Amino acid sequence: MKIPLALVRVATPVVMWAASLRRRALPPQFAVLEMTTAIWPALALRAIVRVGIADRLARGPATPDELARDLVLHEPSVRRVLRLLSGYDVVHEARNGRFELTRIGRCAARDTPESVADFVRYAGEPWQLDSWERLSETLRTGVPAFEIVHGTSFFEYAGTHPEAGELFDSAMTAVAPLYGFAVAHAYDFSHASPVADVGGGSGLMLRAILRAYPDVQGVLFDLPGAISRAPQVLGDERARVRVEAGDFFELAPSGARTYLLSHVLHNWEDERAVKILSNVRKELPADGRVLIVETLLCDKPNRWSAGNLNDAQMLSLVRGRERTRAEYADLLRQAGFTIKRIIPTAAAESILVCAPG
Ligand SMILES: C[S@@+](CC[C@H](N)C(=O)[O-])C[C@H]1O[C@@H](n2cnc3c(N)ncnc32)[C@H](O)[C@@H]1O
Repeated sequence: MKIPLALVRVATPVVMWAASLRRRALPPQFAVLEMTTAIWPALALRAIVRVGIADRLARGPATPDELARDLVLHEPSVRRVLRLLSGYDVVHEARNGRFELTRIGRCAARDTPESVADFVRYAGEPWQLDSWERLSETLRTGVPAFEIVHGTSFFEYAGTHPEAGELFDSAMTAVAPLYGFAVAHAYDFSHASPVADVGGGSGLMLRAILRAYPDVQGVLFDLPGAISRAPQVLGDERARVRVEAGDFFELAPSGARTYLLSHVLHNWEDERAVKILSNVRKELPADGRVLIVETLLCDKPNRWSAGNLNDAQMLSLVRGRERTRAEYADLLRQAGFTIKRIIPTAAAESILVCAPG
């Protein structure tokens, strides 16, 4: 059964509230053990992606014996890990002992249309996990654990370690269609052309918008490494996009009517975020709009929220943060903008529609 994403978004707080009731009903020690061990199935999922089991199962069901033979693995270990993941609805074991991917498991294989395998690989990389593992040092110092572990900032690291940089771009490319589609359908872009996606990565968000609006022209602006895959990602939409390499702390691309900043401001502390916005402000026509796509921080206490989760990831990795509506209003005011509307999307992200003034 396919449940509409918008319904899932509305239902998520209810489901999380029910989960918190369940946790409260447990003896508290069990609740702590459950949270502490939640990382184990996450790493088991990553392991079956890494050794190729997910890709092999995407081609058809197989027994652990067949998987071990085809992929040169240890059969009893394969069986035990798949048995664990069958409890998380990643694989299903049939009566004949063959395992197949469920609709969730198919997203962990690389060559399926719904694949987010590169995000699974990225989130499980040691250079990522180390930061979470050293979060206690961030609690002591306020310095992102990533910088403590690697001695450099996240984006410097991604720029100087090609494998890490490529995996980061692939991970963003894997998840961008999920919110790109939601953004393209939540905002009316028919009078927004040209749309400049600043820090737009390889162009997936822009592609989703241009596909939904055949008359809209685009500008894709990012660091040279990030835009290198743009021609192939943009595909048929390439002809309507000016691809431009640059540094958003130096300038914003000229000539657009709408500027999109999607998951960009949350990477930076206030001063640097204001610098990016001010550069956009210099290029924006008087009747232009800036669209900020982010997961907002929850301003009510004692709630689960995607914004709070992403905020902790920002805390461990970069000097950025998620922000509440009021914090965005303040940040935007410093760069000469006001928020006109906040549009929720079918994904966890909201669109802050901002105008000069
Ligand atoms: C978290 S990603 C967001 C990508 C995309 N907008 C999205 O929503 O999926 C942040 C983007 O900012 C880009 N970026 C980082 N520093 C930059 C800079 N100084 N100038 C231009 N782009 C930069 C990165 O290359 C990356 O593509």
